[in-house]
Amino acid sequence: MVRRLCDETDARRLLNPGPVAIVTTAWRGLTNAAPIAWTAPLSMEPPLVGCVVHPHRHTADMIRFSEEFAINIPGPGLLKQTAFLGSHTGLNANKLEAAGLTLFNALRISAPLIDGCLAWIECGVHDVIRIGDHTLFVGRVTGVQALDEAYAGSWLLAERQYSPLTYIGGTKYAVVGDPLEATFEVDAQGGLVVENAEERERREEEEARERELRDAEGEQGYQEMRSG
Ligand SMILES: Cc1cc2nc3c(=O)[nH]c(=O)nc-3n(C[C@H](O)[C@H](O)[C@H](O)COP(=O)(O)O)c2cc1C
Repeated sequence: MVRRLCDETDARRLLNPGPVAIVTTAWRGLTNAAPIAWTAPLSMEPPLVGCVVHPHRHTADMIRFSEEFAINIPGPGLLKQTAFLGSHTGLNANKLEAAGLTLFNALRISAPLIDGCLAWIECGVHDVIRIGDHTLFVGRVTGVQALDEAYAGSWLLAERQYSPLTYIGGTKYAVVGDPLEATFEVDAQGGLVVENAEERERREEEEARERELRDAEGEQGYQEMRSG
């Protein structure tokens, strides 16, 4: 394993992935949508979420003027549509129509919601903060909806099609998955027991099985089996 020094700009990519959002907006009869990867929960009470948008984006103007926005969270079924919406500006184009997306009315705001997404968060603008070369729009959450198949107090991650899409960078995305249950024990000194007796036994059994396979198949055959 090699630890490599990265560029300062790598910090943003390393902090992905959270679910990618498609931010929808409406103003004077016009609508727009753009994928925004930089979103964050900011406060529980009042419920506030943040959405970081470059001031050159049409979305930034749409949020500023309408003082509202919706966060639509897509699954892998909307991968192409998400990339398409992020490929050009909606300043002089109806991207939602061109993407062939079906919309439905939000509960409390005029921005449309995208059918086929897994969850939807409606926000009124609570604060606008200029931060470096971007603008942080702080949204006061006014409505939240989610699909039963996708969410029950937390993301279920039971089925790929109902798991959120996350943005890695460039043209790369991933589906959030492989949920793990974290339980741990502490020893008499309060230190973490990284591996208890049962886990050690399971690991040793697994290692013994791998050794037997290696002996039976030879190193090359074993590597081929592992990669194939
Ligand atoms: C997956 C993805 C995530 C993106 N995340 C952000 C982001 O967090 N903030 C931002 O300002 N632009 C982001 N962009 C770029 C905008 O979505 C893109 O510039 C878009 O065309 C802007 O459209 P608009 O001018 O209609 O608002 C992202 C693009 C993609 C494809």
